[in-house]
Amino acid sequence: MVDYFFIVAFRVIRPIFKGKANFATVQNPTPSRTYGNLKDEDRIFTNLYCRHDFRLKGALKRGDWYKTKEIILKGHEWIIQEIKTSGLRGRGGAGFPSGLKWSFMNKPSDGRPKYLVVNADEGEPGTCKDREIMRGDPHKLIEGCLVAGRAMNASAAYIYIRGEFYNEASNVQEAINEAYAAGLIGKNACGSGYDFDVYIHRGAGAYICGEETALIESLEGKQGKPRLKPPFPADVGLFGCPTTVANVETVAVAPTICRRGGPWFASFGREKNSGTKLFCISGHVNNPCTVEEEMSIPLKELIERHCGGVRGGWDNLLAIIPGGSSVPVIPKHICDDVLMDFDALRDVKSGLGTAAVIVMDKSTDIVQAISRLSDFYKHESCGQCTPCREGTKWLMGVMSRFQRGYAVPREIDMVEELTKQIEGHTICALGDAAAWPVQGLIRHFRPELETRMKLYASTHDEKELSKFSSAAPGLDRYTLSMV
Ligand SMILES: Cc1cc2nc3c(=O)[nH]c(=O)nc-3n(C[C@H](O)[C@H](O)[C@H](O)COP(=O)(O)O)c2cc1C
Ligand code: SF4
Repeated sequence: MVDYFFIVAFRVIRPIFKGKANFATVQNPTPSRTYGNLKDEDRIFTNLYCRHDFRLKGALKRGDWYKTKEIILKGHEWIIQEIKTSGLRGRGGAGFPSGLKWSFMNKPSDGRPKYLVVNADEGEPGTCKDREIMRGDPHKLIEGCLVAGRAMNASAAYIYIRGEFYNEASNVQEAINEAYAAGLIGKNACGSGYDFDVYIHRGAGAYICGEETALIESLEGKQGKPRLKPPFPADVGLFGCPTTVANVETVAVAPTICRRGGPWFASFGREKNSGTKLFCISGHVNNPCTVEEEMSIPLKELIERHCGGVRGGWDNLLAIIPGGSSVPVIPKHICDDVLMDFDALRDVKSGLGTAAVIVMDKSTDIVQAISRLSDFYKHESCGQCTPCREGTKWLMGVMSRFQRGYAVPREIDMVEELTKQIEGHTICALGDAAAWPVQGLIRHFRPELETRMKLYASTHDEKELSKFSSAAPGLDRYTLSMV
């Protein structure tokens, strides 16, 4: 029965990540008001730029650990209800409702301990938000571990942190030490009678270790290779015990939601896309930054208000990847008025992902940019599933030829078909993540690909082309026969 429940949950979760289900889509796309321009008093992360003391003294001044004992004493059902009311959706990329996910942990106990695992791997290219939280506001994360842990009746939290984040790991460890010394965590945490431990585990910096089951494997000391589901982590997770993996930002906002109330958080952003959110904007903008804003803020306003606009002005914009390297690119005419939330970006066939906004102006070689991402996914594939292992390699090879124009137009459809053979046919979502950027490129920049191919054909005679073919990566015998 339990397994059946999780199979159903999986069937629901995966299509959402793939942007296919209409589970949470706002039916009326007309905004009822304008969004954005978040006031300072509504910011959750008040030391994002490390201008103040990150230690306990500074954190207490900023309101952390205020009435935490009372929150813990209210019990798991109350906390879960507040999180459900707030409408918080996971900030790790998939956007699954957090209150519902956390509630999966509260099945009748069979005596096994339960664990919260905090995903601080932050490997998605373009994303730089969790590291800012850990450097400037580590106590928010530790307090969040206690509150989220209490919601799941977990006995401990493991923070799995990317190995390269040395300063971040140091600050979080210092915050943990301070919290233990002050009696905020450990035995009788905050004097609530609840015992809760927090540990740090440093990873070795593999993108795949951010996938929740690969992360669990890695925490257990094994190679970071995703597990087949079911069983789901809430049933059999870390060390064979019920586990929930949650992103740093998701966990760190929980105490403020409980203090200020679910309806307060739900008052930001559009229905089913609520809350405040950290956006990381990089690339061709005048002032790249990470900033907390209201969900559903228009993309253009986000860039103009916080980043000093696109280099050379808005009209110099070519395209934007709005949610980290895994989501499809959108061209300027869509960026003009799209809102930054899960459903609005889903409706334009992209995604909010980790809210890492990668801006590309007209000087960008868009084919090269997407081809570079194909290299990345090929490099990071763990190799367990054939469609991902072989498909990412093939994509990388063909994309490198597309970059030079060394291909024929009908290969574009062939590559699109290849992405569909990868998408949805793998153990984890890395396969989908490798497929989507290429699909976005073909959807919006097919004429650019064709022009390159024409140019290449017009400047190379047949002899030269065949000379090239033996050295061209990705042009194996099968591909050659297609050409
Ligand atoms: C290849 C891959 C890499 C991922 N990397 C991360 C990551 O670095 N950080 C993260 O929080 N989630 C990452 N995720 C998503 C996690 O599997 C998981 O959905 C997330 O941590 C759940 O947290 P949330 O419910 O708070 O969103 C990744 C997923 C995949 C498929
Ligand atoms: S999809 Fe790729 S990364 Fe994920 S398990 Fe399969 S081979 Fe590994």
